[in-house]
This record gives sequence, C-alpha cells and structure tokens, in this order.
Amino acid sequence: MSGHVVVTGGAGFIGSSLCALLAARGERVVALDDLATGSPANLEDAAAEAGVAPPELVRGDVRDEALLARTFAGARAVFHLACLGVRHSLRQPVENHDVNATGTLRALEAARRRDVPRFVCVSTSEVYGTARHAPMTEDHPTLPHTVYGASKLAGEGYARAYHLTWGYPTVVVRPFNAYGPRSHHEGDSGEVIPRFVLRALAGRPLVVFGDGAQTRDFTFVEDTARGILEVGLHPDAAGQTVNLGSGAELTINALADLVREVTGRDVPVERQAPRPGDVLRLLADSGRARERFGFAPRVGLREGLERLVAWYRRQGVDPAVLLAREVVRAWEGP
Ligand SMILES: NC(=O)c1ccc[n+]([C@@H]2O[C@H](COP(=O)([O-])OP(=O)(O)OC[C@H]3O[C@@H](n4cnc5c(N)ncnc54)[C@H](O)[C@@H]3O)[C@@H](O)[C@H]2O)c1
Repeated sequence: MSGHVVVTGGAGFIGSSLCALLAARGERVVALDDLATGSPANLEDAAAEAGVAPPELVRGDVRDEALLARTFAGARAVFHLACLGVRHSLRQPVENHDVNATGTLRALEAARRRDVPRFVCVSTSEVYGTARHAPMTEDHPTLPHTVYGASKLAGEGYARAYHLTWGYPTVVVRPFNAYGPRSHHEGDSGEVIPRFVLRALAGRPLVVFGDGAQTRDFTFVEDTARGILEVGLHPDAAGQTVNLGSGAELTINALADLVREVTGRDVPVERQAPRPGDVLRLLADSGRARERFGFAPRVGLREGLERLVAWYRRQGVDPAVLLAREVVRAWEGP
C-alpha cells in the first residue's frame, strides 16, 4: 500500500471524524487503533454521516514498532491521535505516560525512518494548565496540572525536537475541548457535555464538580477534525505549534443552563467536590490558525449542542441505558 494517510487513534471520538473527513476529501485512510476507548462502530457511524466508506482498521498498539513499520510504509501523512485520557492518568499515571509520551516517540521514529512526508501530532490545551492570562496564545506557559497534560507535552516536545534536530516535517496542533457525536459519556473517558446532555434527556441532575465557575473553550468535533486536517497538511505548517479553539469562554454553570435550554429539560444541578487536578480556566487565542492557516470553526455552541441532541435521538437508545456506563467520579475508577 502507498499514498495512504494513517490516523492513529482513528477509531476514537475525534479520530473517527477525522478519518471520515479525510475520506470525503479523497484520501485513502488507515485507522490504527487498539480499541482501548475507540470502536469500529465510531468509524462506521462517522463514515455513514459523511457518505463515505469506513477506513481500513488496523487493530494494534501504537507502541508496537513492527506494526508501525508495516502501517506507515509508503504513507503520505500520519495524524497521531492515539492516547489515554486525563482521568485515566489520575489512576494509571505510568501507563498513561507510556502510551502518550513513549507512544508518540515511537510513532515519530517509525514515521521518520520511513520518510513519511508529514507527521501531525495532535496535542491538547491541557498542556497549558490553568490560564495565567486569557486568551491563551501558543506562547502561554505550559504548566500542565495532570500526568495526562504532562505526557502530551512530552509527546509534542518530541515532535518539535524531530523538526529541530532532523528537519523532519512535524506539526503540533493543540485542540481545546471538543464535543459532538461519538463523544464519550462512559467510564473514565466521560466528558462534561455528553454527560450533561444524557442526564438532561434522562431527567437526572447535572453533576458539577466544584463551584462551576471553571471555564472551557468548546469546539464542535467536525470543526476540530477540519482544523487538524487543514492546519496539519498546510504546506507552511512544518515546525509550527497551533491552537485550535473557538475563542468563546463558557463557565460550566452557563453550560448547564444552555444544556437545559437546548434539551428543554429543567433538571437541577448537583454539586460535588472539585476534581483533582481540574484546570480552572481555558480560552484559546486561535489567531495563528486563522491568520496563517485560514482555519476558523463554523459551528456555534448552541447549534453544536442541538446537533448532539439530535444525534442521540437518532441512535434510538434510552439515555438511561447509556448512562448505566457513566462513572460519576470517573477518576476513582469503576
Ligand atoms: N476530546 C477532546 O476534547 C480533546 C481535546 C484536546 C485534544 N484531544 C486529543 O485528541 C486526540 C483524540 O482524543 P479523543 O477525545 O478522540 O479520545 P479517544 O479516547 O476517543 O481517542 C483515542 C483513541 O486512541 C486509541 N488508543 C489508546 N491507546 C492506544 C494504543 N496504545 N495504541 C493504539 N491506539 C490507542 C483509543 O482506542 C481511542 O480510539 C487525543 O490525542 C487527545 O489528546 C482531545
């Protein structure tokens, strides 16, 4: 095989949207994923939504050198998304580091040795920690609160080092919080928006950790995937680090109000103790993505939430059934 595009973590939430978008633009896509938190159903659902065929799925671990060598040979680009998440890092810090940092290094080395002409390292806004000033440009200090953020920072550091040492064409993108169809509500992957939406639809209280004054900058997954693709493959992006956010700041309390409005369910808020390591403020300055690479998100939060609610309704599954897999204090384990 040659001329294909590899998406590590392709069967995950953002990865499956990225695979579908790449296929819609005529690319031959291979998703490499060990299905730790992803699923073939994500690939099928995202592809059906985009009207394309699902990509080839290579099931395996991003730390497996022989598998990387086979899958990357002849590829025209690697998008590296495979990772374990923030709550996982609170329970299993060493494994989290191993997949996120060492896994990135192994993927970089395999791609460089096979002369893959572009490596896009998908990092995260969690590398910043809480905002010292806002909006946050790419030069904001990187003081992650969690092992997840620190391991992602190590991974993106390796990507920049490969560019500086060998001139290898890596690009680092830092998405801020993404939400939308196929997002995780379950286990330690569970995110606030799908949990709020499902709880509202099921008539249950929305659980807020701490005072709810924490802020986030939310981007609809279709926009996140398009940003990763367009900035990642841009001819001038090699060696660059680029934020991908919406530039709109929202408190978790305001999010709860908006979810109640969009779902039409007047459910109460239940307050619980703060989460360990929780970042208090995140707001992207996405000027670099916009001005140098022509990328701006298109879907506003209200529209994105409406689309997520419509997607859940189309699944035809009782929200209470989906919530059976929710773990409220997810960092404490099941
Ligand atoms: N979701 C967000 O809000 C968000 C925000 C910023 C950055 N990101 C980044 O985007 C990327 C995708 O995140 P997501 O939200 O889609 O999470 P996800 O958990 O849905 O996707 C990660 C994928 O990696 C796979 N994976 C895990 N360990 C692996 C291993 N050892 N080998 C191969 N595959 C493995 C999982 O099975 C999963 O499909 C990650 O790199 C994450 O850091 C996500």
